[in-house]
Amino acid sequence: MSQNPSTSTSQVTSEAARRRTFAVISHPDAGKSTLTEALALHGQAISSAGAVHGKGSRRGVVSDWMSMEQDRGISITSASLQFDYRDCVINLLDTPGHADFSEDTYRVLTAVDAAVMLLDAAKGLEPQTLKLFEVCRARRIPVITFINKWDRPAKDALELLEEVENRIGIKPTPVTWPVGIGGDFQGVVERLASKPEEGMVRFERAPGGATLAVSEQLSAEEAASRFGDAYAQAVEESELLAETDANHDQEKFEAGATTPTLFGAALANFGVGQLLDLLVDIAPSPFDRESDAGQRRAVDSDFSGFVFKSQANMNSSHRDQLSFVRICSGRFERGMQVTQAESGRTMSTKYAQTMFGSSRDTVEEAWPGDIIGLVNATGLRVGDTIYAGKKITYPPLPAFAPEHFGALVMTDTSKAKRFRRGIAQLDAEGVVQVLYSERRGDATPVLAAVGPLQFEVTIARLRAEFDAPAHVDNLPYQLARVTDAAGAKALKTAPGVEIFTRPRDGAILAAFPNKWRLQTIQSDYPDVKLVALLAGG
Ligand code: G4P
Repeated sequence: MSQNPSTSTSQVTSEAARRRTFAVISHPDAGKSTLTEALALHGQAISSAGAVHGKGSRRGVVSDWMSMEQDRGISITSASLQFDYRDCVINLLDTPGHADFSEDTYRVLTAVDAAVMLLDAAKGLEPQTLKLFEVCRARRIPVITFINKWDRPAKDALELLEEVENRIGIKPTPVTWPVGIGGDFQGVVERLASKPEEGMVRFERAPGGATLAVSEQLSAEEAASRFGDAYAQAVEESELLAETDANHDQEKFEAGATTPTLFGAALANFGVGQLLDLLVDIAPSPFDRESDAGQRRAVDSDFSGFVFKSQANMNSSHRDQLSFVRICSGRFERGMQVTQAESGRTMSTKYAQTMFGSSRDTVEEAWPGDIIGLVNATGLRVGDTIYAGKKITYPPLPAFAPEHFGALVMTDTSKAKRFRRGIAQLDAEGVVQVLYSERRGDATPVLAAVGPLQFEVTIARLRAEFDAPAHVDNLPYQLARVTDAAGAKALKTAPGVEIFTRPRDGAILAAFPNKWRLQTIQSDYPDVKLVALLAGG
């Protein structure tokens, strides 16, 4: 036992048990920024809405990484937001969306213990939500569903549940049920067995948008007299749901078979407090994580964590590199010596920070479930493990299915050496996937990315940090499959297909222009191994 002597394992256990570390998965415009602000407001992490990140005039605490980001008005960096709620500490990790959707967005999901799937009530499941959901499913992350914008005309509530169940095969178990159809939102009936009161919670709009909404508990009689048919219908539908076994079951939720579902309106702050309560009541706290070798590291053992994101030059006034670490076990204390599992190198953690948009605070101690940023911990790469005491190596982070491909062309061949060094560094950081094909040779790497912004970041950083100007020629591929040497040989001359190697993990990829070409290849070459990559494929 090599914990700091002043830290008892029971303190680590109780601090870990208080943590809820999650991310919101959604499609652009479903209301993620609005919900984040509303959650932060509940946790009193901010005093007025608009301080987290938002659009236009709501833009407040945003990172200002690279002028590119400012020009486009988007936030590239993953912020994590921490606040207290009831007796818990909530860690909300940002999943960049919109134009900044990238592999980092997926990687955030390797660092959470639960996810909130945010749906626009008028639109239901949308493409980006589906992709992110697939990552949650693959990583067995329990998902809570929040059906947002119920204050506006929406799909039918039962239809939304059916859509979730039929399209992604996870059963929604509503923990609240709306009184009033979309656009006529009066409140909710509560359906958790631990909330046995009859009646409903009535919501009332607070003036000025996303400030704390007023809510009150109405008895069944009051609800019936004030909301008549709408209340009667909600009660009836809620009873019907019980008959179809759509009640919360903790085990099934944790196993990913069901998704507890809430109705709300983030903009008016309706249902946001209930979402936080639900996270506290049912979302898992940090659990013993499995190592590369299949052994479990107890949360109360020595300190350990892994890097899920690494970013250089986040802010022009601090030209530095930040490695975002998710703590898995033990107590982190600023200044402690940790070892990088992959290299065996020890490093000090004098410069450890928490991030919230562009504001950075020094962190003195942190616990399992927390996210810390290590400044200038050079040599730390995405996926690396750091630990104190007994050695542990967490499994490498997966490479996610790229959907954008481009040939990277050096514009100044006298800078070839810098160019190669830059590419190696950016590949190692996980900025972009670097591939090579026999057809193009080693001098022209091909970049593969989940979002096109990854190309722009690569180009900008090659120029700024390595003085190696380059440009990207887009290639006509949209998806890839993992194959083997035999598959590579068989498909080498297949029209429209290109075979790549990915030195980062030694994988052989076959890239296709569209899913129809993939299908014809599959039927023309039934013996060729073509395995889908994680998400999006
Ligand atoms: P995102 O981060 O998921 O992209 O979505 P964001 O929060 O920016 O919300 C997208 C739009 O939906 C915003 O309107 C926002 O005000 C609105 N919205 C979010 N939640 C609700 C809700 O519960 N009810 C209603 N009616 N609207 C909601 P916008 O006009 O695009 O932007 P803004 O000018 O209001 O910022």
